[in-house]
This record gives sequence, C-alpha cells and structure tokens, in this order.
Amino acid sequence: MDVSVVILAAGQGTRMRSGLPKVLQPLAGRPLLEHVLDTVDALNPAQTVVVYGHGGDAVRERFADRDIAWALQAEQLGTGHAVQQAMPDVSAQNVLILCGDVPLVRADTIEALASAADADTLAVLTTDLPDPTGYGRIIRDMQGHVTAIVEEKDANSDQRRIREINTGLMACPRDHLARWLERLSPDNAQGEYYLTDIVGCAMDDGVAVVPVDAEDYAEVLGINDKQQLADAESIFRRRAARRLLDRGATLADPDRVDVRGTLTCGSDVFIDVNVVFEGDVVLGDRVSVGPNTVIRDAVIGDDTQIHSHCLIEETRAGADCQIGPYARTRPGVEMADAAKVGNFVEIKKSRIGRGSKVNHLTYIGDATIGDNVNVGAGTITCNYDGANKHQTTIGDGAFIGSGVELVAPVEIGAGATIGAGSTITKPAPADTLSLERARQTSVDGWARPVKKK
Ligand code: UD1
Ligand code: CA
Repeated sequence: MDVSVVILAAGQGTRMRSGLPKVLQPLAGRPLLEHVLDTVDALNPAQTVVVYGHGGDAVRERFADRDIAWALQAEQLGTGHAVQQAMPDVSAQNVLILCGDVPLVRADTIEALASAADADTLAVLTTDLPDPTGYGRIIRDMQGHVTAIVEEKDANSDQRRIREINTGLMACPRDHLARWLERLSPDNAQGEYYLTDIVGCAMDDGVAVVPVDAEDYAEVLGINDKQQLADAESIFRRRAARRLLDRGATLADPDRVDVRGTLTCGSDVFIDVNVVFEGDVVLGDRVSVGPNTVIRDAVIGDDTQIHSHCLIEETRAGADCQIGPYARTRPGVEMADAAKVGNFVEIKKSRIGRGSKVNHLTYIGDATIGDNVNVGAGTITCNYDGANKHQTTIGDGAFIGSGVELVAPVEIGAGATIGAGSTITKPAPADTLSLERARQTSVDGWARPVKKK
C-alpha cells in the first residue's frame, strides 16, 4: 500500500507502574509494539516511522533488525506533537497513524481505515464501547457527521455519556496533516498538543471526516495499565483458541491454553489444560498433550503422546512417541518413531533411536542412541569434564542397566549389555556384558551398632 505508517510509541506509560517502557510490555510473550509492527507488515506500506522517546534506547535496540525509521520525541507533549516529530520522515501522500499501545488491531481493519482516507478525507477509526471511560468521545452533529473528538478530561457530563469513542487510529493526506499539526494548541485540560484536534482543523478546511467503525471493539482496546494488559492477554488467548477449535483441535478448556507463537495442528489433536506453546510448534495428527506442559519450537509426529508436566524445547519427535510425565527435553533433541522418554528424564542435544526407551530419572546429553536401546533408571551420561562437552554413542539393541555412569567420550557397541551401577570409561564391545563394580562381600558375625545409654 502506498501509505506511510506512523506508530506512536513515545509515551512513558506511567499507569503501568513498571521500569519497562510501555510498548515493550509483553503481550503473549512479545512486546506490544511488535504486535503492531507485525500487523503493519501485512499491509506492506511504503515505510514505517516509529515515534519513540521514553526508554528510547531500549525500544530501538529491541527492534534494531527491522526496517523502521525512528523519530525522536524528546519531550512527550501530546499525540499531535508526537506525529509532528515523524512528519519530516514521511514520504507517502497518505499517512496511517497507529498507536504502540493498541496491539490487537487486525490487518483488515487498518487496511479499511487507510483505504477510507484520500486527498480530501480524514478517516478516524471509532467504535462503541460498553464502558468508554478514559477514551476520547466522538461528537456528531444533527446529521450524524463527526465534528470533534473530546478527551475524557475535557468532556462535559453529556459528552461523557457518549459511548462512541476514538480508537486513536487515523488516516489522512500528508499535506493537510502537516498544516493541521502546525495549528494545534495545548489549550486543554492536559496542556497537551492533541492529535484529536485535527478533526476541528479538517472541518475548518472543508475536508470530510469519515468514521470507520471497528466492528469488534476488543481489537482497539488501548493498553494503559496492567488490568488492560491482562484483558488484552485473555482476548489474545481466546482468539488463538478459537482458531484452534475452528481447525478441529479439541481443547479441554479454551481459556486455559496459551499460544504465544504459531501452532499448527493436524487432525484430532487433544490439548489438556494449562498448556503453553511458544515459538513455532507443529503437532501431527492425533497428538495429545497432557496438562501443565510447555512446548517451545518443536515438531511432534502423528500419534505421539505428551503426558502431563513436561517442558519440551527445540525438539523433534517422530510418530508414536511417549514423552513424560515430568520430562524435560532441551534444544537439539531428536526422537525417532516409537521412542519413549519418561519421568524425570532430562535430554539435551541427543538422538534417541526408533523404539528406544529412556524411562526413569535419567540425564542424556550429547549422545547418539541407536534403535531399540533400553536405558535403565538413574543412568547418566557424564558429558562435561568441566571444560568441554563429549559425545556418548550407544549402538542398536544395547541394554544399559540402572544407575550407570557413561563417562564421555565413550562408545557402547550394538547389542552390548552394561551391568547396573557401572561407571563406564572405556569402549564396551558389541554383544558383550561390561561390568565395572567391586565384588559384593558379606561379613559374617557383623553386628549393628547399638545406641549408648
Ligand atoms: C488517546 C487519544 C484518545 C483515544 C485513546 C485511544 C489523544 C489526545 N487522545 O488517548 O482520544 O481514545 O488514545 O487509546 O490523542 N504518545 C506519544 N507521545 C506523546 C503522547 C502519547 O508518543 O507525547 C503515544 C503513547 O505512547 C501511546 C499513544 O501515543 O502509544 C496514545 O497516547 P496516550 O497517552 O495513551 O493517549 P490516551 O490518553 O490513551
Ligand atoms: Ca492509550
């Protein structure tokens, strides 16, 4: 679209009561401003100018990799003053003004707003709110034309009863806008240069003011405090759950699943309560996820079951796998089909072969485990010598007894058996039993100590 997008993000957000600048406050795990920037990307605008000020360096750093022009508003003198700081950078004929603290707005809505503006039209995104407290009110004349926007603090009691509000989002021609901004005065209750006063300027210049209605008011909620942030979080959550349900996933409770990235589900997926998805997650057909689990950047194959209380990160699991309960897979884990990773097992940067089982209380790091291997309870790969990490290799069909320490680098041959309790430091040949433990002795006539009187 041939439009310059200006995003207002200089405000301090005092009502957040936080050291973090308002537009960096996380919604679904990502800064408020990032939500707006991602939505803007869908429009493919000529340029995006972000007006920054409060916590400026932190805000710029966070988005250093984005194609954004930054306009500094050193002192926050109001939304009109903020837009003015961006004007020298604005190149397109039309300007779309968005707010960094209105993060849920949809691409379709801002596209409709931008399309409603032209050389002789100022478009204002409005909506009706059940509780308009705090917002600027839309004033209309007898014919229904928008004539002004009055801020809550400047409104009289009749005006405060109006439920049609200014969302803060507008679109208008650049040349008019530049002239109107020159004419603003801080003669109001907050002593600020209000952007909303350009409505009056447009009237004076005979430029039409067209309201564009945001059908779903949830998408234009402004976020000024932690209550509104929490409200936005639950709207975001329900939207994501809705998308999953529409595509056929079964959710134990749509209010208790959080998708903070992208989640792609096959058919007949079941997701229990309190599951959090982060980054990019793909679940195959008939995958089930138990309660209280976090899954981040993972691909899970068909029919795999993830039981309760797991933390799964950067993991690829094949089909028919079993994971958990209480399993933790860290980055770089690959599970072949029908592999099992059980209770209180931690796995890092390792491959678990087809049909292999690591079922209880085990740490596997930097290992390659072949097919049909059984790793007994309490086994540990000693992969770190204090300075470097070393590899463990276990061949197909090997059986590792319980309580074994595999001191890496070490290789266990195919079909090898390792006796329980062994500390293995040398290669264990294929198809042999390797044991490393003192012989058991029993002391005849030994008596237990008795407590002194
Ligand atoms: C503003 C609107 C109000 C609207 C509401 C919708 C004005 C005068 N009022 O009020 O009509 O109903 O948004 O959410 O426009 N900002 C700057 N520099 C400044 C001041 C603000 O960059 O000097 C930025 C803020 O960071 C924020 C946005 O502008 O992203 C809105 O500012 P805020 O102070 O939250 O305005 P509201 O009082 O909510
Ligand atoms: Ca606001």
